[in-house]
Amino acid sequence: MVGYRKALKSQITSFNQKNKLIHLLDLHDWNQDHFHTIFKLAKQFKNKSFLPKHDAILMANLFYEHSTRTLTSFEIAALYLGINVVNFSVLNSSKSKGENLQDTIENLYAMGISLFVLRHPRSGAPHSLVQHARFPYHIINAGDGEHAHPSQALIDCFTIEQNKGSISNLHITICGDILHSRVARSLIHAFTCFNVKSLTLCAPPSLMPIKLPSFPFTIEHALANAIDGRDVIINLRIQRERITHGAIPSTLEYFNTFGITSELLNKLSPTVMVLHPGPVNRGVELDDSVLKNQRSFILQQVSNATAIRMSIIHSILCNE
Ligand code: CP
Repeated sequence: MVGYRKALKSQITSFNQKNKLIHLLDLHDWNQDHFHTIFKLAKQFKNKSFLPKHDAILMANLFYEHSTRTLTSFEIAALYLGINVVNFSVLNSSKSKGENLQDTIENLYAMGISLFVLRHPRSGAPHSLVQHARFPYHIINAGDGEHAHPSQALIDCFTIEQNKGSISNLHITICGDILHSRVARSLIHAFTCFNVKSLTLCAPPSLMPIKLPSFPFTIEHALANAIDGRDVIINLRIQRERITHGAIPSTLEYFNTFGITSELLNKLSPTVMVLHPGPVNRGVELDDSVLKNQRSFILQQVSNATAIRMSIIHSILCNE
């Protein structure tokens, strides 16, 4: 399969002609109604007032990159919905013999799998699968390269809304390796859609994208300049696997300028929320004590993942 970049440029959409979700590719074309539909369902799943079953469905997790949270929470979400899950082993697959992604998907579809949760190192891989689909399978993007991680952004926005009421009224900072972060890209789409009061992007110049969308961002190059008056601080992982060399002088120096400490947090309002999509590099993005600080919502993000991923799966299957 070729043309990942072309598929991205084509702005291929997650919605069908009736504006119903049939894939989850990215958030570039989401409006607030789309978000609130997912959030409403997630609330019902959390308070157990609604539990539909999709027991005739087979779902495959295809993870070409490692994962703890996304892989496991998609599996749990599917199991709650009565779906049978195949955790496809990329390592033991015929990828090593040259089979490409589209052929792998088509062969799994021929075995009866119709829903695919895909994590792939190539930006645009899920979009290309949808663009070239010969069969009516559904693709959920569980992270493609540096491009998008839409389910994570949905989880983060849901966690914020649960605790703050409305996202639109908030002053938000995203801090860390923004250049390589698919989570940051998806969050920027989400916060632009919610028209937040202010959005600050904070990173070393070497980890900040040069070209940014038209939303009026504030750019900062030290966390100390990006926390006053903020309601939410989202800290991102340094993506060591995508950094070749030289982006930061040292992890210690990075931590001293961009790391969150409880000392820093305790100077802020007790209502400030600190989020991190995980996995956390302790001593690089934040110190140990931050995880225990009342302002940390990092494990609440993880708890919300199952309900949000149930909502995504259920919405897609209802729109068949
Ligand atoms: N947030 C996130 O994508 O974590 P995993 O890589 O563990 O899935």
